[in-house]
Amino acid sequence: MNSPVLYQNVIWMMLALAPVVFFVLLFVTAPYGRFSRGGWGPAIDNRLGWFVMEFPASLLVAYIMLFEMDLSVVTLVFFLIWQLHYFHRVFIYPFSLRGTRSMPVVIIAMAVLFNSINAYLIGYHFVFHGDQYGPGWLKSPAFIGGVILYATGYVMTKRSDAILRDLRGPGEDGYKIPRGFLYQYVSCPNYLGEIIQWGGWALLTWSTAGLVFLIWTMANLVPRAIAHHKWYGTTFPDYPAQRKALVPFLI
Ligand SMILES: NC(=O)c1ccc[n+]([C@@H]2O[C@H](COP(=O)([O-])OP(=O)(O)OC[C@H]3O[C@@H](n4cnc5c(N)ncnc54)[C@H](OP(=O)(O)O)[C@@H]3O)[C@@H](O)[C@H]2O)c1
Repeated sequence: MNSPVLYQNVIWMMLALAPVVFFVLLFVTAPYGRFSRGGWGPAIDNRLGWFVMEFPASLLVAYIMLFEMDLSVVTLVFFLIWQLHYFHRVFIYPFSLRGTRSMPVVIIAMAVLFNSINAYLIGYHFVFHGDQYGPGWLKSPAFIGGVILYATGYVMTKRSDAILRDLRGPGEDGYKIPRGFLYQYVSCPNYLGEIIQWGGWALLTWSTAGLVFLIWTMANLVPRAIAHHKWYGTTFPDYPAQRKALVPFLI
């Protein structure tokens, strides 16, 4: 794995595949959550699914950064920023979900594959380029701007996900119209927050690996936000007409 040539080839492969994934997802919505449907093979509880899917992103980056390189102050800060998201996503988010839903194993397997490749790219970026970040990097405009974006996206996603979670009381399983916070503007502020957050990561690390992750996040979440928005419109006759799918006033 410790080969810059392999690393560069994986970067090119991911850049080439992202538009393909985007176009496929415009026509085939991933069958989990409200789009769960038969014909995708065996399925397991979605809480376990989220845990298994996201675990490699936390674990592999931790392994690579702690055992394959010497951490500097700056790369330690990167490590902590990365794990801030993934600790929550792996150990807290899955167990906060309400409602009974299962997730196809094939979707989980694809997500594990993606998260493993992504973790390899993120981790080895620092193995190969970690020494290029001097201590002054923490005062650079890219780092400061990136942290502001990352924190903004983080708060948007967490708050939006919490609003969705609170729509269901104990034992409830159905869907309601989310209201308040950024839901007055868009149907999927959690996805918008996620995109902004990884945009912040790409900026604060100024890395191709960060850019690849941002592109893949958009390839996944833009089509899904459009699908969610259409679903809300057809499911709820009183769905707010001025609300957009993902970007306030635009999309
Ligand atoms: N970086 C990436 O590429 C990427 C990819 C996918 C997801 N994510 C992130 O992962 C998180 C979860 O994604 P997701 O696709 O599962 O989000 P989601 O479809 O918005 O669902 C999140 C949770 O809220 C529930 N929920 C959603 N809308 C609801 C409504 N109107 N009424 C009641 N409950 C509702 C869902 O229940 P059901 O499960 O029963 O629908 C689920 O438990 C988000 O923060 C997202 O940004 C990131």
